[in-house]
Amino acid sequence: MTPTSASFPGHLQASGTVDAAFEALLDVDDLPPGSMRRVSRGDLDVLLAHTPAGILAVTDRCPHMSAPLSIGTLEGCVVQCPLHEGKFDLCTGDPVQMPTTGGLDPDGGYHPTWSPAGREPKVDPPGLKAEARRLTRVRRFRYFPLRIEDGRIEVALPTDLGDID
Ligand code: FES
Repeated sequence: MTPTSASFPGHLQASGTVDAAFEALLDVDDLPPGSMRRVSRGDLDVLLAHTPAGILAVTDRCPHMSAPLSIGTLEGCVVQCPLHEGKFDLCTGDPVQMPTTGGLDPDGGYHPTWSPAGREPKVDPPGLKAEARRLTRVRRFRYFPLRIEDGRIEVALPTDLGDID
């Protein structure tokens, strides 16, 4: 089956990409179904993922603490972060499982420090760290428009990296 680009949540499109030129980043043959690759352009690291919904391009950084998702694992549309086991749905942009470092539910709500299943919940002493957890927001993926031309994966990248928030 011929690989296609996947649709992505429009409200999560990266700033500065609406009129940006498309740039060839990788041959389609180098991204088989179920695989991921990082492609860097200057300071910008792009994650290319070949999901069952098609090929997607997002910033290659975990919504939690910016670890490179490209060296994590991909199951269907869900990528698992190699650092704290957070899981994120690349097709919807939503968290599936929040990281084991605790502090946030998938909807962004605060909860006490994570404890292993079956153990007493850890005490989360009040203080600066607890306040930092309470105020932390889940970063959302930023998506880059993508097309496939002549067997190459082309992505619209912002010309000004200050556009990536
Ligand atoms: S950096 Fe990815 S789950 Fe923490």
